[in-house]
Amino acid sequence: MPLPSSAMPSVADLYELIYYPGGSNADPELPAWLHQLLSKRTPGADLLDVACGTGHPTLLLGDVYNLTLADKDRSMIQRARRNARLSGVAVCRFLHARWEELSSASLGKFDVIICAGNALAQCSDAAAIEASLRTWASLLRPEGLLYVDVREFPTGRFRRNELLELYGPVHWQRHAYLVIARERRLGNRLYRTKVLHPISGRGVGAATAIYRTDYFMPTKTVLLRSLETCGYKDVQEVRRPGKWVFNAYTAVRRNDGLSP
Ligand SMILES: C[S@@+](CC[C@H](N)C(=O)[O-])C[C@H]1O[C@@H](n2cnc3c(N)ncnc32)[C@H](O)[C@@H]1O
Repeated sequence: MPLPSSAMPSVADLYELIYYPGGSNADPELPAWLHQLLSKRTPGADLLDVACGTGHPTLLLGDVYNLTLADKDRSMIQRARRNARLSGVAVCRFLHARWEELSSASLGKFDVIICAGNALAQCSDAAAIEASLRTWASLLRPEGLLYVDVREFPTGRFRRNELLELYGPVHWQRHAYLVIARERRLGNRLYRTKVLHPISGRGVGAATAIYRTDYFMPTKTVLLRSLETCGYKDVQEVRRPGKWVFNAYTAVRRNDGLSP
């Protein structure tokens, strides 16, 4: 992987370094599983990924669906574009936008919406989660499918707001902290990151993941209730394969006039 041109790696650099160090092969079961999960949908259907990050794993569905990839982070969208080129996805629409700003008036409607990789947890509270689910319902055609997953937060080891600051060469955003289990090399730099307890200053274990202290991690109950009240039916829990434990769901957009 080439060394990033700026002194600080971008969000996308770090994201790929941690989650997809082997490129799209990092989670080899995921694309096939996603394919199977969506197989009821017509090939050529319109698929929107509302928080595409660097494009994994949605880009791997590029030969089946008409893809629109959106993300609020510019470096993520730039990397997703590059990954699309590298994986031969010729037709894909990229949007640098928050999902709250997406509207069917300008984008049209979709048959499938994906919000993967714990992106929903970046909502500040339960009300923001509900607002997001309603926005996506308004972007889905009736009977359209939503896939959403959230990480199992390791509450036994880390409590929200317990961890304060990063240690190492990486300064994330103000509230963020970064946990990397192993040292990883990016270009010729070695990232050795350790999480310190804000009061004791001692290291507090490790997991290979990024968490932010301002994340709102919705419980299963909150998420299921929100899906039911925000325009969805047939909510199903699905088992997402891979290295990390997710609570993953599909839900079908109700046709009850809830959303325009
Ligand atoms: C953990 S990454 C997941 C990326 C990708 N879906 C995956 O599974 O690898 C979460 C992504 O959500 C994006 N995100 C968070 N809140 C967002 C919002 N309100 N609108 C658009 N993107 C958002 C972040 O910029 C980040 O790229």
